[in-house]
Amino acid sequence: MQTKILEINESALQLCKRIISEGGAVAFPTETVYGLGANAFDTAAVENIFKIKGRPNDNPLIVHVYAGYDISALVEAVPDYAKRLAAAYLPGPLTMVYKSKGVVSSAVSCGLNTLAIRIPAHKGAQSFLKYVNLPIAAPSANISKHVSPTAAEHVFNDLNGRIEVVLQGGKCEGGIESTVLDCTGDFPVILRSGLVTREMIEKVAGSCGEYVYKEGVAARSPGMKYKHYSPNCGTVLFAFDQLDKALAEYRRQCENGVSVCIMCDSDVAERIGEARILDLGKTEAEIAANLYSKLREGEQTADLIIAVAPEKQDGAMVGVMNRLKKACGSK
Ligand code: TXA
Ligand code: MG
Repeated sequence: MQTKILEINESALQLCKRIISEGGAVAFPTETVYGLGANAFDTAAVENIFKIKGRPNDNPLIVHVYAGYDISALVEAVPDYAKRLAAAYLPGPLTMVYKSKGVVSSAVSCGLNTLAIRIPAHKGAQSFLKYVNLPIAAPSANISKHVSPTAAEHVFNDLNGRIEVVLQGGKCEGGIESTVLDCTGDFPVILRSGLVTREMIEKVAGSCGEYVYKEGVAARSPGMKYKHYSPNCGTVLFAFDQLDKALAEYRRQCENGVSVCIMCDSDVAERIGEARILDLGKTEAEIAANLYSKLREGEQTADLIIAVAPEKQDGAMVGVMNRLKKACGSK
């Protein structure tokens, strides 16, 4: 099977609806990363997603619905703070975890009694979700542990031959996965940071916790314990104030004949001058949006990526740093 990248129109949506209703999987764009979706009510279809990606079977999936879908059919009571957060930030890059009613397949949450729900803002995602009119369980549309896809071509490179269709939605504007927020307690707790930041959540909900995964203890969000986002090349991460060390390492690798490039923001790139650079851009939004595509560009053109962390470490950069640390320093 050769995977097709299709523009989002009536005939493509019809085809996707057929594939989904027959228990298949379709890749679709969102404003964060591309997702690989299947009918959340269909256990075989959900299990198939884990197979296609090679995903560990204890890492639960997010259910995606269109704006206006009545989520009370899927989950128990939604706390007040969660209603306020939904009003402020949805549709958008925020996934909210609730107590599940247990009506979707138990394969979605891997046996947990909670369910993660996301209403993506991307127009293409909304068209797809509305057209199929089903809750769609979807992880990111990459091979498990590889860099998440922020363009249809990234999905194609990972999954060609394994799925029939990728819906073309252009480059993802957000670029890192949604914030995952536990809304089962008295106040919200961030399980995975993203572009809806802790500050944004505190402003609306009053308070916000942040879950820190400890090795050896059962993870509240099982995805936390896995290695993630890794390009297929060597990677090493330097702190912003270690630029000199990063440059020395770059020169040393060059002298040894290693194909190497430096990944950094535009300001650092300007300071460096002559070197092979993967430029992440200037603003926080640009850095997040370009991170995964630059990691993928790096793995195709170099044996080693030397990453320099951004200077700013709060707000949206918390999510970026979390991905950078998981992607780098492992080889
Ligand atoms: O932006 C996104 O969230 C993208 C797009 C496609 O929507 N999706 C995504 O899915 O990143 P995935 O499968 O790569 O990551 C889902 C994360 C994992 O860390 C998983 O552990 C967590 O959400 N998760 C899912 N269901 C959960 C639950 N019931 N309780 C706690 N964590 C959950
Ligand atoms: Mg993923």
